[in-house]
This record gives sequence, C-alpha cells and structure tokens, in this order.
Amino acid sequence: MLLVCAWAAAAGMPEPRYTQAGELLRPEGYREWMFVGASLGMGYKEGESKSPMFHNIFIQREAYEHFVKTGKFPDKTMLVMEKVEAATDESINKRGRFGRSFAGIEAAVKDVSRFAGTWAYFHFIGEGGEALPKAKAFPKESCWNCHNEHGAVDNVFVQFYPVLKEHVRRAAAKK
Ligand code: HEC
Repeated sequence: MLLVCAWAAAAGMPEPRYTQAGELLRPEGYREWMFVGASLGMGYKEGESKSPMFHNIFIQREAYEHFVKTGKFPDKTMLVMEKVEAATDESINKRGRFGRSFAGIEAAVKDVSRFAGTWAYFHFIGEGGEALPKAKAFPKESCWNCHNEHGAVDNVFVQFYPVLKEHVRRAAAKK
C-alpha cells in the first residue's frame, strides 16, 4: 500500500481534501480529468424517468493510467459523476437529447486509511439544487452496498464505462 501512495504522490495526482470534521471538499478541476463514460436516464427502479439526466464520469488522469497498467484503482482515486439535465425542445432540434444545464456532482472516493469500506460516497447537491462546497460521506447502506454488490471492479461500475471496460477486456484477452 505504501508503494501505491508513494506512486500517487510522485505523479502529483489531485487528492481528496477534507475539512477538519472529515467532510469531503468538493473536487475541483475534474472536467480536465479523464472522461470514461456517460449514461442517460439510468435508474434502479422500473419505469422511465420523467426528467432524465446525463451522468458524465471523470477520474483523475493518474488513477486512470494506474488502472490501465494494473487493473486496479490506486488509493485516493476519485470518480466524479457530473449530472446534466437532458433536454430536447430547443433551437433546431427535433429529436435526440442534448445536455442543457449542469445539475451538480456526486463523488466516489477511495481512501484506505479513512474509510472502513475503502470507498465512500458523497453528494454535492443541496436541497434546492445548489452546488455544495463540502459533503459528508453517506452511510454504507445508502450507496456503498449497491456499489459493492453490483460494481464490476472494486465497487466501480466499470461495466458501464466503455473506456475502462475496454482495458479490462484487453487485459483478459492477453492472459
Ligand atoms: C441501487 C444501486 C445504487 C445505489 C444505491 C447507488 N448507486 Fe451510485 N451508481 C450506480 C450505478 C448503476 C452507477 C453507474 C453509472 C450511472 O448511474 O450513471 C453508479 C455510479 C456512481 C458514481 C460514479 C462512479 C462509480 O462508482 O461507478 C458515483 C460517484 C455514484 N454512483 C455515487 C452514488 C452515491 C453518492 C450514492 C448514494 C447516495 C449512490 N451512488 C448509490 C448504482 C447505485
């Protein structure tokens, strides 16, 4: 584990930052990270969503490179899920959907020394839809359980992120 930490520090990976009370500060600059996948209107219950959102998924470039080399997410990995309102009724558009406005972010953070379950989950969207500067980790049953049970690799939904999935497929083909 020490080796992994040393590697992350040497590469200058942007790391999660916390308040003294242990809340996660909103990750910054993630749009410059690696973009690994997008989904539209996914849900975990039956029926169509009335207001589908794009979910755009970003990961630190260094964590991505580590994943490509080793198939593992290093300590201090952050995945940011940016939600974008999907719309159809604008300008010349007659079908299909485009992203109209940003609706906030959620984050998954791997921090081995801090979280008993290795990963913790955060939501930076206030009651009125406003962006929050910091957030508390959700209890395990709210987020972690589903990610742990259904995420393809180490709690992460790699099965839905084509850029990461491609590396898993290539690594398996080499064996
Ligand atoms: C019932 C299952 C389920 C629960 C509960 C759940 N998620 Fe997820 N989550 C998913 C799925 C499926 C994806 C794949 C991408 C998507 O939804 O667009 C995902 C993706 C994510 C991602 C992108 C990184 C990753 O790990 O794949 C974040 C961040 C995230 N969820 C945050 C949360 C937070 C915060 C909570 C709790 C409030 C939560 N999730 C609860 C199923 C779940």
